[in-house]
Amino acid sequence: MSVLAVDAGTTGVTALVVSEQGRVVAKGHQEFPQHFPAPGLVEHDPDEIWTAVLGACSAALGAAEQAGATPVSCLGLTNQRETVVLWDRVTMRPATRAIVWQDRRSAGECDRLREHEPRIRALTGLPLDPYFSATKLSWLRANAPGTWEGVRAGRVAAGTVDSYLLARLTGGRLHATDPSNASRTLLFDLAAARWSAELTELFGVPESALPEIVPSSAPVGRTAPEHFLGLDVPICGIAGDQQAALFGHAAFTPGDMKCTYGTGSFLLVNTGDRIADGGGALLSTVAWQLGDEPVRYALEGSVFVTGAAVQWLRDGLGLIGDSAGSERLAASVAGSEGLVFVPALTGIGSPHWDPAARGALLGITRGTTAAHLARAVLEGIAYQIRDVVEAVAGTAGIPVSRLAVDGGASANDLLCQIQADLLGRPVARPETTETTGLGAAFLAGLAGGVWSGPGEIAAARGDVRVFSPREVAEDGYRRWLDAVDAVRRFGS
Ligand code: G3P
Repeated sequence: MSVLAVDAGTTGVTALVVSEQGRVVAKGHQEFPQHFPAPGLVEHDPDEIWTAVLGACSAALGAAEQAGATPVSCLGLTNQRETVVLWDRVTMRPATRAIVWQDRRSAGECDRLREHEPRIRALTGLPLDPYFSATKLSWLRANAPGTWEGVRAGRVAAGTVDSYLLARLTGGRLHATDPSNASRTLLFDLAAARWSAELTELFGVPESALPEIVPSSAPVGRTAPEHFLGLDVPICGIAGDQQAALFGHAAFTPGDMKCTYGTGSFLLVNTGDRIADGGGALLSTVAWQLGDEPVRYALEGSVFVTGAAVQWLRDGLGLIGDSAGSERLAASVAGSEGLVFVPALTGIGSPHWDPAARGALLGITRGTTAAHLARAVLEGIAYQIRDVVEAVAGTAGIPVSRLAVDGGASANDLLCQIQADLLGRPVARPETTETTGLGAAFLAGLAGGVWSGPGEIAAARGDVRVFSPREVAEDGYRRWLDAVDAVRRFGS
C-alpha cells in the first residue's frame, strides 16, 4: 500500500507517492502563476491551482506506476494556509480570484476592527493582521458585493485552499476543513475547537458559507474518479502545510520543534494539549487532530525573509549564480568579521512584529568582501530563528532541546551548522526534506491503515543528520539585537 500526498503550496503543487516504509517513491511538481494586480496585492486563480494539482498528481502517479510501486490506498492533502477562495457549489468554478496570505489589502479592515483585537487574540491566539483569512473575507464582503450576495444566498462556498481542493477532489461532495487550517482564519475558537459565532458575526461571514471542521487524520470522503484522474480512494489526511511539516518530523512530543526554511521560515513547537501564551511574540495555533482525539496545539513563529535574502544576493546584487553559491561563497571565509546583516527586507515578523523595519548591513570595513556579506546573510537568517527560539523558551517558558529543519535552504550544510552554533542546540536534518508532503502522507496513512500509530511513523521517518553546536562568542548575538533595535528605530 502507498499513499498519495498532495502539497498545494504558495507557488506550486508537489505530489508524492509514499511507500509503507516512508520512502518517497515518486514525485510530481507543477508551478502555477502568481498574480500581482497592484503593489501589496497577491492573487491566485483557483482553476490554475486545480490544474497544477492534476498535473503534479498525474506525473507522480505515472512515475509510481513505472517504478512498480504498490497501488495508492489513500490520499493526504496539505496546503498554503490563510489564503481565501470563493467558489460556486455546483459548478465548482471560482467566484473570484483567491486572495493570498501575503496580500495586504485588508489592512483597512484590521484598522476598522482594532478595538476588538484583545478579544480576537483571546479567542483565536492570533493578532489582528491582514495575513489571516477573515480579514480578507471581510474585505470581499465590503468590496465585492455582487460576489458576496452569492455567499449570503448559499450558492457560493467560502474556504481556504484545502476546502476548495477537497470540493474539487470529491466532485463537490465535500465542503470541509481541518482544525489546523481553521485555526488560521480568525474565525476559530481555539479552546472550544469550533467556529466562533462571536467572530463570524464580527467579521460578517455567515457560518453557513464556511466548511465543516473534520479531523486532520480520519476518512472524510472519497476522490471522485470522473473528476480526479480516474482515482477512487479515501481522503484520510488534511493539514496546513506548516503543521503537516511538524507531523512529518514525527514531532509528537510537547517541546518538539521544527523550522521550515522557504522564502520565509516558519518555526512551530508542539505544546500538546496546552494552548501556550506566546505573549504577542508568537502565534498560538492548532497542530492537528487525530480522529476523535482532542486537538493538539502548537506555538508558531513566522519569519518573513530567509530564503528571500539569498535570492536577493543572487537577483538583487548578482553576487552568486544560484542559491547553492551562497554556501560556497560564505564558506570561503572563516567568519563574518563583525558584519551584521538584518534581513528585514519586508519588515520584521516574529517575535518583533514591526512592518516598518527595513534591512540593514552594519559593521562594514575596508576589509569587507562579498564572502563576508554572504556569511552575514546566513547568520542573519539563523539569528532570526534564534530570536524565535528565545521567545519559545523564554516568553512562553517551553523547554526546547533540538531543532528539526526542512525546506529548500536546509540543504545548505553551512546554514545548518551556523544555526546549531547560534542556537547552542543541535540541528537535525532528515534524509528526505520533503517533510510537508510526508506529514500529509503520515496523517492520511494513519487513518487509512498504512501505519498503526505514531511509533511506526517515527520509525518510517528515516535517518537524520545532526549538526552539533560549537562554542561561539555571545557578543555576536548582542550585536545582532542592537542591529535589530537600530533598524526598528530607522523604520519608525
Ligand atoms: O502561512 C503561510 C504558509 O502556509 C505558506 O507556506 O510553504 O506555501 O510558502 P508555503
